[in-house]
Amino acid sequence: MHFHSCRKIDQKRWNHNEIITKYNISPEDAIGLWIADSDLPLPRKIVRGIVKRAKYPYYGYQILRKDFAENLLLWHQKTKDVELSLSNFFFTPSTVFTVATIIEALTTFKDKILICTPIYEPLFHTIEVLDRKPVVVPLIVEQNQITFDFVALRAKIKAEKPRAFVVCSPLNPGGRIWTKEEMSEIVKICKENSIILISDEIHGDIILYQNQFISFLKFWEEYDNIIVASSINKTFNLAGIHNGWGIVKSPADQAKIATILDQRHISSSPNIFAQAACISCFKYGQKYLQTSKKIYQQNLEYIIKNFKEQCPELVPIIPEGTFLCCVNFANTGISRLEMVNLLIKDIKVLPQFADDFVDSCHSFFRLNLAIKPRVMVDVCQRIIKIVNQFKKTEGEIINEK
Ligand SMILES: Cc1ncc(COP(=O)(O)O)c(C=O)c1O
Repeated sequence: MHFHSCRKIDQKRWNHNEIITKYNISPEDAIGLWIADSDLPLPRKIVRGIVKRAKYPYYGYQILRKDFAENLLLWHQKTKDVELSLSNFFFTPSTVFTVATIIEALTTFKDKILICTPIYEPLFHTIEVLDRKPVVVPLIVEQNQITFDFVALRAKIKAEKPRAFVVCSPLNPGGRIWTKEEMSEIVKICKENSIILISDEIHGDIILYQNQFISFLKFWEEYDNIIVASSINKTFNLAGIHNGWGIVKSPADQAKIATILDQRHISSSPNIFAQAACISCFKYGQKYLQTSKKIYQQNLEYIIKNFKEQCPELVPIIPEGTFLCCVNFANTGISRLEMVNLLIKDIKVLPQFADDFVDSCHSFFRLNLAIKPRVMVDVCQRIIKIVNQFKKTEGEIINEK
């Protein structure tokens, strides 16, 4: 895989102005790891499909291409083991847009919406800006494993009677892939309480090692009110192309969603370049997916080994899916504010912290594994050095006292 310079053109994560605005540091030598974008270039074969469409000099209103529809259904059959029809899909400019559309169509103002934290913040934000009320149940983060707190969930549902439950599967942050048993329990709880289950499965193609991902779509036989929001924006790093979809079973819900999209005058098919990109990725993306997974795993293994050997107080929460790895720093004794200063100001490594995921209880930062292995080495060594240095000087101060 040949890496290009991502800093040159328009990638937000590497853009100097973005770094200055977000982190208030001089951007030279900074390593941006906050946005879940990838530095791994798409192969020529995929790019060729997009370029071929770009060369055709007509960019007027588009239709839904037959080859897009066929490959979309085939992709879901192959990767999620589900037989869908085109009527199950609606298309939007992004996954978060999809979640927002579902909430808008199927709930009303002031409805309560359940969400477990830590979670990708825009999902939480969407609930708030749509003037619904987020009902938060924290996930349990213990011994570097993340699980649902089913007792707390049931209690909260009894007390608050939420209308919908937004779940992230696999989870960002943390990369947990929910087990079949956990998913069954979630579906059972939703069914018992007539809660609409909205599952954001954008990370569902990036499954590390031998882990198995099950889509909530597999539970449609048990419960109709499950809606999946997804895209291949993380799988193939396509977020800048603006593309996403929702998958809905009930014709009545499909109609309500269509009304919301119609009110916004959103086209019922993805834009020209989104369709071209998806067709190429669906058809020729397998090798890229395998190669990129190997790089994520290589970077993950480097982190695990080197933190363990050189700074064992930094404990990675090992992701089962996605290219994002949270590192628990509770054992370092370094406060959250101190860690923010050490990483951002002192060594210019720019991750996200628990607070960025609506989580004020835990001490972790999230690293992006979709980077050159050489950059990962640089990131880890900077972190290890500064954390060890800080521990040493803190020890000296305590001894002096
Ligand atoms: C869980 C989750 N959902 C949605 C998104 C954003 O996707 P999109 O750009 O398609 O809205 C991200 C981006 O990192 C994410 O992690």
